[in-house]
Amino acid sequence: MEPTSHKIIFGSSVNMREVESNSVNLVITSPPYPMIEMWDDMFGKMNNEIKDVLMTNRGNIAFELMHKELDRVWTECYRVLKDGGILCVNIGDAVRTIEKDFILFPSHSRIISFCSKLNFSNLPNIIWRKTTNAPNKFMGSGMYPPGAYVTLEHEYILIFRKGKKREFKLNDEKRRRQESAYFWEERNSWFSDVWFGLQGTRQKLEDKKIRNRSAAYPFELAIRLLLMFSIKGDTVLDPFLGTGTTMAAAMFAGRNSIGFEIEKSFLSAINSKIGEVKDLSCRFLRERITGHRDFWKAGKELSLLDIRIYFMIYRV
Ligand SMILES: C[S@@+](CC[C@H](N)C(=O)[O-])C[C@H]1O[C@@H](n2cnc3c(N)ncnc32)[C@H](O)[C@@H]1O
Repeated sequence: MEPTSHKIIFGSSVNMREVESNSVNLVITSPPYPMIEMWDDMFGKMNNEIKDVLMTNRGNIAFELMHKELDRVWTECYRVLKDGGILCVNIGDAVRTIEKDFILFPSHSRIISFCSKLNFSNLPNIIWRKTTNAPNKFMGSGMYPPGAYVTLEHEYILIFRKGKKREFKLNDEKRRRQESAYFWEERNSWFSDVWFGLQGTRQKLEDKKIRNRSAAYPFELAIRLLLMFSIKGDTVLDPFLGTGTTMAAAMFAGRNSIGFEIEKSFLSAINSKIGEVKDLSCRFLRERITGHRDFWKAGKELSLLDIRIYFMIYRV
């Protein structure tokens, strides 16, 4: 396999001056979620006004100011992406009680609306149905209508493209694309607009000074998006790197990566995620191959492409 490079930049992604314009093939990321309490302090540090507005219970204004901070990062993503490059944003909406009023803050639609203004094309999005063990799902007035609330049990993966569909004209690109093929049944399940059954990931952070939870997404979420929307040798960016899940997936899949993280103290969490790449990759490959064998046993002929993908997988 060809060598790849991986660069961590500790700093804010509102200005990614270290990254050249039109140089990135794919962005996979998950920002701090506006109006989810665990991120209030972080948004407050980005803009002091957010603290005041939250203290005086002006929820809609706080929501808008928080998104204004994220808008700066989406603008930078647009700049650094190549024509035909893809932006994938994992985001959850928030619910919050403000002055006794229970309100939904729909981050997913706010991001779609801003990215569309930036000239990104929104492609069909994915709903990530989360496994919840909550024994008591009722919010609001319990068993008496009409004051009970629907529980949020999903997040979104928003998908945008900059410019027109990517073309592969050079021989080297065509070869790398061929080497990046996935199985037929993977295409069917990965490109479904509802994902479920993704294994969760450890959320506890060793260093409690930063925060209690990492808010990391599962390795499988990052690796799927990476295999769906990039080819070997591409460059993948995560402007909100956190524990480095996107980077770990890029290392496994032969993509180059760049990650921005504002908290320097996350280095140990990133190192520990990178230390797990081998185990995470082995588990993913085992499931991939078992899944394909089961599918094949169910009556499908093994095609030449299948054989080529097996070959590529084993070579990784
Ligand atoms: C939801 S977490 C990302 C988790 C990551 N996907 C993972 O799997 O670990 C968001 C991360 O963005 C970082 N962050 C917030 N604002 C930032 C900014 N302006 N620039 C860079 N990093 C930022 C936070 O410190 C946090 O670690």
